[in-house]
Amino acid sequence: MRLAIKVLYSIETKSLSKSFGDLNAVDDISFSVDNKEIFGFLGPNGAGKSTTIMILTTLLKPTFGQALVSGFDVVTQPKQVRESIGYVQQESTVDEYLTGRENLLLQARLNHIPKNLIKQRIDEVLELIELSDKQNDAVVTYSGGMRKRLDIAGGLLHRPKVLFLDEPTVGLDIQTRRKIWEYIKKIHKEFDMTIFLTTHYMEEADQLCDRIGIIDCGKIQVIDTPQNMKSAMGNEVISLVIENQNNEKIFLSQLKEIELIKNINEDQNKITLFASKGTEVIPKIFQIASNLNIKIKSISLKQPTLDDVFISYTGHEIRDDDGKFNRKREHAKMKRLRA
Ligand SMILES: Nc1ncnc2c1ncn2[C@@H]1O[C@H](COP(=O)(O)OP(=O)(O)O)[C@@H](O)[C@H]1O
Ligand SMILES: [Mg+2]
Repeated sequence: MRLAIKVLYSIETKSLSKSFGDLNAVDDISFSVDNKEIFGFLGPNGAGKSTTIMILTTLLKPTFGQALVSGFDVVTQPKQVRESIGYVQQESTVDEYLTGRENLLLQARLNHIPKNLIKQRIDEVLELIELSDKQNDAVVTYSGGMRKRLDIAGGLLHRPKVLFLDEPTVGLDIQTRRKIWEYIKKIHKEFDMTIFLTTHYMEEADQLCDRIGIIDCGKIQVIDTPQNMKSAMGNEVISLVIENQNNEKIFLSQLKEIELIKNINEDQNKITLFASKGTEVIPKIFQIASNLNIKIKSISLKQPTLDDVFISYTGHEIRDDDGKFNRKREHAKMKRLRA
C-alpha cells in the first residue's frame, strides 16, 4: 500500500547554512513558502540570495541544515527536485545567435520534454510572454526586456510547480521592469505555481510578493507580508537632520521616551523615527531639541515604505549612493537603536 504524503509547503528550509571558508553566506535560515505563493527574498548584494537559490535548485550543497522543495529533499532527492522546478538565473542564458524559438527548442530538449509535446509547449509560452511575432528573429536583435522574457519562458516549458527567479529585473530600466512584473503576475495566474524570487528592489518586492523575507548578511531578519511590515513600522516616518551633535546622545535618549515613537535609527546627523502619530510627535521633538539647544536643519513626515522597513530591520539602507553595498563600512558607520 502506498501512503499519500501531503506536501505541506512548496519550499521548506530548516537551519539552512552555506559557508565558503570563513564566510557564512547563508547563515541558519528557516522559512517555508506556501503552495502557489509568490515569496521574495529582499536584500542587498552579497546578502546570500543567489546562494540560497542555488541550494534550493540543487546546484550547491548546504553545509548544514535541510531544504525540501515540492516535498523533496534537495540533497537526497535532487532529480525529483529538478523535475518540479524552473530556474531563471540572474544572467541571461540564451544563445544570442539562435532565434527565440530555437533557444526554446534547445531548452525543451534539455528538459526532456516528450517530442510530441514540444511544439505545443513552445507555442504556449511564446504566446504567454508575447514573443510569438519575434520568435524567428535572432536573439541578438532582442532588447534586454525581451531576452529576460525569453529566459523566463525557458523556465516554464516543463510546467514546473515552483519557479525560481533570481533578480528577474536587475539591470533593466524601470518601464521594462514594470512590464516584467506584469508578465510574472500573468504567469503566476495562468500556471498556478509557486514563485520564489530574489530582488534588491523594494518596489519589486512590494508589487509582486505575497510575503517577503528580508535577508542581510546571510540571515533572515523578518518574514511578513509587505503590508504588515509597513504597518508594524508605525503609521509614519519622520526624518530629521540636526546641526550640532554635541547633545545628540541625550537628544536620542529623550526621543526614545516619547511614547508614540516605535523605533529610532540614527546615521551620523540623520535620524529616522517610526511613529504611530507623526503630527503629535513633531512638536515634542522640537520641544526636546529646544531644551537641549539642538538646531533642527530639516524635518519631514511621510508614510513608511519598504525602504524604511529595511532600514529599521538592518540598520542600513539597501544600497548606498554609488549603488554598491559595503557590509563592513556600513556596519561600522551605522548605529542602531531599538526603541
Ligand atoms: N562560490 C563562492 N565562493 C566564495 N564566496 C562566495 C561564493 N558564492 C558566493 N560567495 C559569497 O557569498 C556571499 C553571498 O553571495 P550571494 O549569495 O551571491 O549574494 P546575493 O545573491 O544576495 O548578492 C557574498 O559575500 C559572496 O561573495
Ligand atoms: Mg545574487
